Amino acid sequence: MLVINNATVKGRQVNILIEGDRVVSVGKRTRSAKGDVVIDASGLTALPGFIDMHVHLREPGFEYKEDIASGTAAAVRGGFTAVACMPNTRPVVDTPYLVKYILMRAKEADNCRVYPIAAITKGEEGQQLSEMKKLKDAGAVAFSDDGVPVSDSRMMRNALLYAASFSLPVIEHCEDKSLAEGGVVNEGKNSNLLGLPGISRASEDAEIARNIVLAEVYGVPVHLAHVSTRGGMQLIREAKARGVKVTCETCPHYMALTDDEILGFNTMAKVNPPLREEEDRQAVIAAIADGTADCIVTDHAPHSKEDKDNGMYDSPNGISGIETSYAVSYTTLVEGGYISQERLSELMTYNPAEILGVECGRIEKGGLADITLVDNSAEFTVDPSEFASKGKNTPFAGKKYKGVIEYTIVGGKVKYARKEEI
Ligand code: DOR
Ligand code: ZN
Repeated sequence: MLVINNATVKGRQVNILIEGDRVVSVGKRTRSAKGDVVIDASGLTALPGFIDMHVHLREPGFEYKEDIASGTAAAVRGGFTAVACMPNTRPVVDTPYLVKYILMRAKEADNCRVYPIAAITKGEEGQQLSEMKKLKDAGAVAFSDDGVPVSDSRMMRNALLYAASFSLPVIEHCEDKSLAEGGVVNEGKNSNLLGLPGISRASEDAEIARNIVLAEVYGVPVHLAHVSTRGGMQLIREAKARGVKVTCETCPHYMALTDDEILGFNTMAKVNPPLREEEDRQAVIAAIADGTADCIVTDHAPHSKEDKDNGMYDSPNGISGIETSYAVSYTTLVEGGYISQERLSELMTYNPAEILGVECGRIEKGGLADITLVDNSAEFTVDPSEFASKGKNTPFAGKKYKGVIEYTIVGGKVKYARKEEI
């Protein structure tokens, strides 16, 4: 039995009793017995374990950037009890064998739950649909060509219709390549200032609009990845109001940072979609607050130091974000006064679980014991050298946030404890 004493849950102090992978009671009177593992959670808040439905674990093929063991160790250090990993590995995850390989490696790593996302098109090349049904049967929970868009609209229509026929979500990386071509940062005053080619918001918004049209005309769901623009959020807000089955996600870096981070040619802030401007950042927060944005994901994109030391043109896009996600989100949104702690759980746990069709932690009798204990009053300075991820690439280094992950419990087992080993 695992006992969590004196945890704060929705403003109340409770004891949580866990047996196997289930919460057996939440309340005042529960007492620990001999032989139980006991966590004193005085001063800590218990939250349903976070689910990150957009991470890059890089295995197979790019293990020098990250592997399933290091990526999931980083996940539990970030308070995540489950992650869904993108298929832009080498080879691309477009066969049942590779889906099973990821599940096997995740089981060996034994950190958090891992849900493989398989490619929409073979090799993410946009030419031929993957064998979606077989991929689902092997354990894929969704489809995406993330890293690149499915540019051919007819291909995307077919993917949406086919995936909908067996109820798996399609996650689209929204980027009109013809509009983005050659750009390395957001198109705006900072790209002008630095003399760098810009990526127009039109690139993202045009592709968002295309996907909304397909979802609306064919009556099928679509999930839009890492939305970064004001215009994109407005298109999604209006589509939702019309009843279109569109859901979307955004990332901590779009709510907390602007493209001022690239000044000084800082490749750590190079990410796709690019960091935008203050009005976009404000619009992202507004979309999170009003329900337009359904999920917060990290788009955890670890890269090596050598990769990122290649200048603004040649270094790859991405931020290693899974170990700063909660603190950045909590500080910006909850401390910032935009949303409640409960709304943050919708964004980081309940909505991702619903979209992926997986069970999530619930701090109630019978609930799955995927639980994260956080200290919301503790402040820390981001230090990438402490990351469990192999990717130390973060524009958050040196910045201060509140919200320290103290324990991560997956299926009733402590998988991460900041202080002592349990
Ligand atoms: O910044 C990004 N990095 N955006 C993507 O879409 C892909 C990702 C990666 O795989 O590194
Ligand atoms: Zn992407």
